[in-house]
Amino acid sequence: MPAPSSPSFCASSIIGTGSYMPDKVLTNDDLSKIVDTSDEWITSRTGIKERRIAAEGQATSDLAAEAARRAMENAGVSAEEIKLIIVATVTPDMFFPSTACFVQKKLGAVNAVCFDISAACSGFLYALQVARHFINTGNRTTALVIGAEKLSSLINWKDRNTCVLFGDGAGAVVLRKAAASESDAPGRVLSTVMGTDGTLADVLKVPGGGSSCPITAENVESRPNTIHMEGRETFKHAVTRMLEASQQALEMAGLSASDVSLVIPHQANARIISAIAERLNLPPERVFMNLDKYGNTSAATIPVALDEANKAGRLKPGDVVLLVAFGGGFTWASSVVRW
Ligand SMILES: CC(C)(COP(=O)(O)OP(=O)(O)OC[C@H]1O[C@@H](n2cnc3c(N)ncnc32)[C@H](O)[C@@H]1OP(=O)(O)O)[C@@H](O)C(=O)NCCC(=O)NCCS
Repeated sequence: MPAPSSPSFCASSIIGTGSYMPDKVLTNDDLSKIVDTSDEWITSRTGIKERRIAAEGQATSDLAAEAARRAMENAGVSAEEIKLIIVATVTPDMFFPSTACFVQKKLGAVNAVCFDISAACSGFLYALQVARHFINTGNRTTALVIGAEKLSSLINWKDRNTCVLFGDGAGAVVLRKAAASESDAPGRVLSTVMGTDGTLADVLKVPGGGSSCPITAENVESRPNTIHMEGRETFKHAVTRMLEASQQALEMAGLSASDVSLVIPHQANARIISAIAERLNLPPERVFMNLDKYGNTSAATIPVALDEANKAGRLKPGDVVLLVAFGGGFTWASSVVRW
């Protein structure tokens, strides 16, 4: 597939990162007490050792707001300076208002326009691209882009095929328009590609709770409002699409895989990540993984990982950072950032 043509963007830069993971840890051994599974199976098939679970009463917007506060502090911007808040999530606080509206209220970001994006695990990179468009074409020059999930609210704790994979958490970045004179501004987003294949929408989904299958007294027992996934089919497409998107985003930025200092892939499965790294010829030290600690937190994985890499000093000025995601829809996206 040819690389999509690059729109001419003025520079927008990631000027701060933040993340928030709930305190409660659920280990593989804990899970083996509630479903027929084992630490050995989960670790060898996925790389996941434990995940975080939000506290009772903690909503997605609570996780998102805390991650956003930390990103704003890291960037040195005030709540009043934020002109746009986009929350990527498949676990909104409620159908409406958007989770972003609740985040705005919690932050006191009174000057922001706020909305959510639903693109499953690709949501953060979709949101990043939308924010870039706002920055490019309008006067909303400082944006909070957040990936936040409380996936524990969508889990069927009796389904071992899915309950071992997911967790809760949030990550955020502050994105700001760089002046023309700052075309080499640190954190500059060089390219983003996105793709969707709705013909495979049924492979990974939460079938119930929406307008096509409202929850009723009759269907509630079959738990349609939880994650349903064909694991092998998802795996296969994830590898192909993430590889393709990575190559396209690099090509759009005029770079190749050998230029990449660190790839931060969506954290769903260590075997998916290894397969992509191998095909891009990237050694393990240039591949970021934290899924052992958090599992798959959908839209949150990339901003959380980016924040951890940033705070751990793994991103040096001038580094080429490749972000790549794949998720339900199917959706996929990739972005190249010059740190
Ligand atoms: C889900 C996934 C880990 C399963 O791994 P897999 O190697 O494909 O395993 P399979 O689906 O072939 O299942 C193998 C066996 O393990 C069993 N199994 C599934 N979950 C299990 C668990 N938690 N513990 C123990 N056994 C389990 C299955 O029942 C199956 O048993 P069977 O052969 O007797 O039918 C893997 O397919 C995957 O990661 N897919 C992508 C998931 C993903 O990335 N989702 C999010 C995308 S954003």
